[in-house]
Amino acid sequence: MAKTMRLDKLLSHMGIGTRSEVRKYIRYGWVEVDGAKPKSGSVHVHPEAQTVLYKGAPVIYKEYVYYMMNKPQGVVSATEDARESTVIDLLEPEDQVFDLFPVGRLDKDTEGLLILTNHGALAHGLLSPKRHVFKTYEAVVDGPVNENDISAFKAGVTLDDGYETLPAELEILSVGDHKSETRLTIYEGKFHQVKRMFESRGRFVVFLKRISMGPLKLDDALSPGEYRALTEDEVNQLLEQAGLSEE
Ligand code: URA
Repeated sequence: MAKTMRLDKLLSHMGIGTRSEVRKYIRYGWVEVDGAKPKSGSVHVHPEAQTVLYKGAPVIYKEYVYYMMNKPQGVVSATEDARESTVIDLLEPEDQVFDLFPVGRLDKDTEGLLILTNHGALAHGLLSPKRHVFKTYEAVVDGPVNENDISAFKAGVTLDDGYETLPAELEILSVGDHKSETRLTIYEGKFHQVKRMFESRGRFVVFLKRISMGPLKLDDALSPGEYRALTEDEVNQLLEQAGLSEE
């Protein structure tokens, strides 16, 4: 599994600085590879087999990184956008070096759990329609909901384009003439799915927040816009859910 990479790429991937900053640090003699001070960032190193030090401290290579964000309203779930702020703009500069992307999309006005990673196969596995990874949302709608809505969602509803949804679980948390609070678990991820499911029942979603995706639950300690690295345990659970636990 010999895999070498340029030293400047490795150091910037590990968040030490931008490519041009790390080349400067190499010239300053702050970087050592197996005890020697390389002169340029273009030398190739094997990150797992060689010892790289920055200012005397080991640089531990990780190919993949995983974060959960509590996405706030008002930003788009994309890596770049000509007009709008993206979830990537919310990352600290040291985390922007990892080529992270969001696993799936939440609408601009939806908040809640968003996984950010640079592990393409994990994203692919979690989003694959075959895997039916469940997602739970808190949805506030503009009027009353009742047992008929629970039964309709359980049987599957027809969306505006004729698509028949898979069975979904609706929990009613509170009911009012102008506002009801619900929790909805779906096993697929069609465009605007939750909003369109409620529309099929004559209700308009006024607030939407994702609180879980497969085994991963949104950490209550994260305010909208905040994010944290996933724990090893959380990563392993996601890999398993995505069918990658043997990797
Ligand atoms: N369903 C929606 O309608 N919007 C989202 O952002 C996510 C699920």
